[in-house]
Amino acid sequence: MHKHIQAIVLAGGRSSRLKTGKNKLTERICGQEIILYATTLLERLQIKTNVLVGFEKETIEKIVSQKHGTSISFIEQKEQNGTGHAVQCTKDAWTKDHILVLNGDMPLITDTTISNLIEKHCTSNAAVTFVTAHNNDPATSYGRVIEKDGSIEIIEAKDFDGDAYEQCCINAGVYIFKTTFLRKAIDQLQPSKATKEWYITDLVGLASEQKLTIKTVHVPFDEVRGVNTMRELWTAEQIKRSELINYWMERGVRFHAAQSTHLDIDITIGAGSYIGCGVHLMKGSSIGKQCHIECFSTIQSSKIADHVTIYSNSIISDSRIEPYCKIGPFAHIETSSEIGEHCVIGNFVQIKRSKLGSNNKAKHHAYLGDAIIGNNNNIGAGTITCNYDGTTKHTTIIQNNCFIGSNNTIVPPVTIESNSYTAAGSTITQDVPSKALAIGRSRQINKEEYVQRLKEKTEAKKTVFPSEDVEVTDNCDML
Ligand code: UD1
Ligand code: MG
Repeated sequence: MHKHIQAIVLAGGRSSRLKTGKNKLTERICGQEIILYATTLLERLQIKTNVLVGFEKETIEKIVSQKHGTSISFIEQKEQNGTGHAVQCTKDAWTKDHILVLNGDMPLITDTTISNLIEKHCTSNAAVTFVTAHNNDPATSYGRVIEKDGSIEIIEAKDFDGDAYEQCCINAGVYIFKTTFLRKAIDQLQPSKATKEWYITDLVGLASEQKLTIKTVHVPFDEVRGVNTMRELWTAEQIKRSELINYWMERGVRFHAAQSTHLDIDITIGAGSYIGCGVHLMKGSSIGKQCHIECFSTIQSSKIADHVTIYSNSIISDSRIEPYCKIGPFAHIETSSEIGEHCVIGNFVQIKRSKLGSNNKAKHHAYLGDAIIGNNNNIGAGTITCNYDGTTKHTTIIQNNCFIGSNNTIVPPVTIESNSYTAAGSTITQDVPSKALAIGRSRQINKEEYVQRLKEKTEAKKTVFPSEDVEVTDNCDML
């Protein structure tokens, strides 16, 4: 708990370099909005936090409040006049001895770096301490930290005309200030000649001019990459994703083509599981031990128990799959569905809002919506539950040990009781009693010698009217 420290996360900028017209901090990296990387880190370190909002303020406030409730409060920057101006807007809210300021666009920053920054700042009695890294790419837009003759300043990319290879120390965008220093210095800032914006970075130059103690904490560049452009967004996500993949690899998960796998941050994968090429494991999902998830399958907010196989191109969302099930290929299980142990859900089977017990098989082309299905049932190919009548959803109940023939159309509300059969091609509109066979189709009629009689009749017509085209459909009276 850092009692004397208060954090301000800057989230009000216009995000113009991303060119989406939206606040970049609402973009997700590995399933989590960028703004939440900073706020959750500060929550873990138990630091009182304010978020500075401006552009698209309502959206940022909603995302942060959904995660943190009322524990984080917001301060508004009405006009976006730069990072220095943004900090100035928060002045009335400063109540602690030190103010930690974080750019909101740093999703890769770690708890360790922030802890080290605080530690160094507090033990050295500095006026300001900030994080630096090495980057010698002149194309990137980082402020450069220039130390000369005992003075130190940050020169923004737009104003920097030096050699980026030689002056490769960059400002990361995380600072901690003594509140007494900040209170005076914040009003001494002058707008930049190039952009007319107020820069937080000029506070370092001001502290240096006043011969105050300035400290830095140096970290690897990857950790402090900012997200300003689409390319930087992509790069940051690649790094986060490889961190996650590495984490699960160390815990015994085999990735067939790790570079093509997408993992969100809050998922779990059991040891001995195999994750195929192009698999997406998204927010709120857990995969058990010894599972086999084949290529191009997507699992979202779902619990997959141990020893489950999911064949390729399957989608599972908001559902639960119990042990030893075999799902797919091309299966779609969704909206609070539950599949019991040892079920086989095969090709092109969609299951929605349905609960299946154990040992059921629906192996080919079926739709089971709003169904409650017991144990040991076989659902034939092409079977569908007609759960929706245009206004209301109705429930189909299939008890235990039933055999539903192929291509059944089950019109609920209806109950098919245990140990019963339905004939192939049936339309089931009434309850089926236990142990019965339900046949819901028209009976087949075979017209003996029909083909021969048809041909003879056609020939006869041709003889009477030789010049006319006589079509077989003329003989429909025989059908
Ligand atoms: C900033 C630093 C730069 C540093 C880099 C690290 C300044 C002037 N420059 O540049 O030295 O190397 O970060 O990534 O600070 N924001 C507001 N209100 C505003 C403007 C910005 O709240 O009026 C917020 C943004 O939403 C963002 C953060 O401040 O989260 C930083 O702004 P950004 O435009 O990304 O600054 P950079 O140009 O990256
Ligand atoms: Mg930035």
